Amino acid sequence: MIPDLDAPQLLGLIVAALLLQALAVAVLAIRGHGRSTAESSGTASEPPGAPRSSLAWSGTQAWRVRERRFEDAAGTQCSFVLEPVDGTPPPPFRPGQFLTFVLDLADPLAPGGRRQVTRCYSLSDGPGLPHYRVTIKRVGKPADHPEWSAGLVSNHFHDHVQVGDLMQVRAPSGHFHLDEDPSVPAVLIAGGIGITPMISMLEELIRHQPSRPVHLFYGVRSGHEHAFKAHLRTRQTNHPTLRLHVVYSRPAESDQLGIDHHLVGHVDLALLQKTLPHGRHRFFICGPGTMMSTLVPALKAWGVPDEDVLFEAFGPASVQRPAAPVDAAAAGVKIRFQRSGRVLAWDGQDASLLDFAERHALLIDAGCRSGGCGTCATRLIEGRVSYPHAPDHDIPAGHCLPCVARPLTDLVLEA
Ligand SMILES: Cc1cc2nc3c(=O)[nH]c(=O)nc-3n(C[C@H](O)[C@H](O)[C@H](O)COP(=O)(O)OP(=O)(O)OC[C@H]3O[C@@H](n4cnc5c(N)ncnc54)[C@H](O)[C@@H]3O)c2cc1C
Ligand code: FES
Repeated sequence: MIPDLDAPQLLGLIVAALLLQALAVAVLAIRGHGRSTAESSGTASEPPGAPRSSLAWSGTQAWRVRERRFEDAAGTQCSFVLEPVDGTPPPPFRPGQFLTFVLDLADPLAPGGRRQVTRCYSLSDGPGLPHYRVTIKRVGKPADHPEWSAGLVSNHFHDHVQVGDLMQVRAPSGHFHLDEDPSVPAVLIAGGIGITPMISMLEELIRHQPSRPVHLFYGVRSGHEHAFKAHLRTRQTNHPTLRLHVVYSRPAESDQLGIDHHLVGHVDLALLQKTLPHGRHRFFICGPGTMMSTLVPALKAWGVPDEDVLFEAFGPASVQRPAAPVDAAAAGVKIRFQRSGRVLAWDGQDASLLDFAERHALLIDAGCRSGGCGTCATRLIEGRVSYPHAPDHDIPAGHCLPCVARPLTDLVLEA
C-alpha cells in the first residue's frame, strides 16, 4: 500500500529511487565479466565490486599434506594432495579456481629473520573429492639472468614440503572457471604448467557434462615435461567426447609422434582453425606469456567474441588487452602512504601502484600480482584509482588492488 505523500515527499522518494537505480547499474557494470576498465574510490560509500560469491572460509586455514607425487618424467612438476585437518569434506570449488598459500619463510634480510610470502596455485583435480590437489612446477633461475635467484616458493615446496606438513591456505577463489553451459563445445588450451586448471575442468566435464564435446590442446616442450601423461591417455581412451591434441615444441629423439604426442610445433591459431569443426566454441586458456599474448588477440581477430575467450595468466598479467587511456591529470599526483608517512609523486613510470611502492622500498604483501587473489588489497582512504584491465578479484569495500591499480587523483593509502 502506498501512503499519502505530499509533493516534496514524493519528489524525495523519486530522487532516492533514481539514486538507488544508478548505484545498482554502476555496481553491475563493474561486476560484469569481460569489462576492460574499472575504478575504485576512497570516498564512495559502496564497494566498487560487491562479492559475487562468498568464500568457503575467511583468512587462512590449516591443511595437511597427505601425499606428494611427480607428474612428469623430469620431476619438475610435483602434485601436493591436501586434506582438511578436522576430517570434514573439503568445501566445493569451481574447476579452474586456485588456492592461495601463505608461507612463513626464513629470510636473513627480513626483520626477525622471517618473511611471509603468498603464492597462488590452481586446483589440479576435480571438485567433490575428499581432498584438494595442487601441482607446482619448480621455477629455476632464468637462463638469461643466472645472477637472479630461483623461484622462492616453488623450490620451497619441492625441497621442503613433506607428507604430514600443515600448510596455511586461503579458500578457493578466482573467476577463471568452467561454465555450466554444455551446449557450447569447450576448448581447453594449456601451455606447460597451465595444464593444472585444465585437468580440473576436464574432470568436471567428464563427470558432470559427459556429452559436451571437449578439445584439449596441450603444448609442452617434450615428453620429459609432459605432465599427467598416463592420466590423459586413459581419459582419451574412455571418453569419446574428448579430443586430445598434445603438441611438443622440441621433441626428444625418444619421443614418438602418434604415441607420445600428436603434433610438433606450437598451439596457435592456425592449428585451432585446422582442427576445430565449424561453429561456436568456448575457449579456456592458460599458458606462458608468449602463448597468451599471441593466442588471445588472435582469437579475437578471428572473430571469437570476448565472452567465449576465458584465460588466466600465472603471475603478472601477461595478456595485454587494449588499455584504457590513462587520465593525463594523473601524472604528478601525490600518493600518501599513511602507515609509513611518506608522500611520493606518481611519475607514470610504473605499471601499477604496487610496482611504484616497491620501487620506493615500500612493502605491500602481494600474491598473484594480477588482480586475482586479493592479497594486496589496501585501504583507499582518499582519492580514486583506475584499473586499466579490470581485476578478477572482488574488491573489498573502501579498498583498492595496488597490483593492478593506477591513480586517477591524489591518494591516501593505508600502507
Ligand atoms: C592464479 C594463479 C594460479 C597459478 N597456478 C599455478 C600452478 O598451478 N602451478 C604452478 O606451478 N604455478 C602456478 N602459478 C604461479 C605461482 O603462483 C608462482 O608464481 C610460481 O610458482 C613462481 O613462484 P616462486 O616463488 O617459485 O618464484 P618467485 O620467487 O616469485 O620468482 C619468479 C621468477 O622471478 C625470478 N627472479 C628472481 N629474482 C629476480 C629479480 N631480482 N628480478 C626479476 N626476477 C627475479 C626468478 O628467477 C623466477 O624466475 C599460479 C599463479 C597464479 C596467479
Ligand atoms: S596480488 Fe593478487 S590481487 Fe593483488
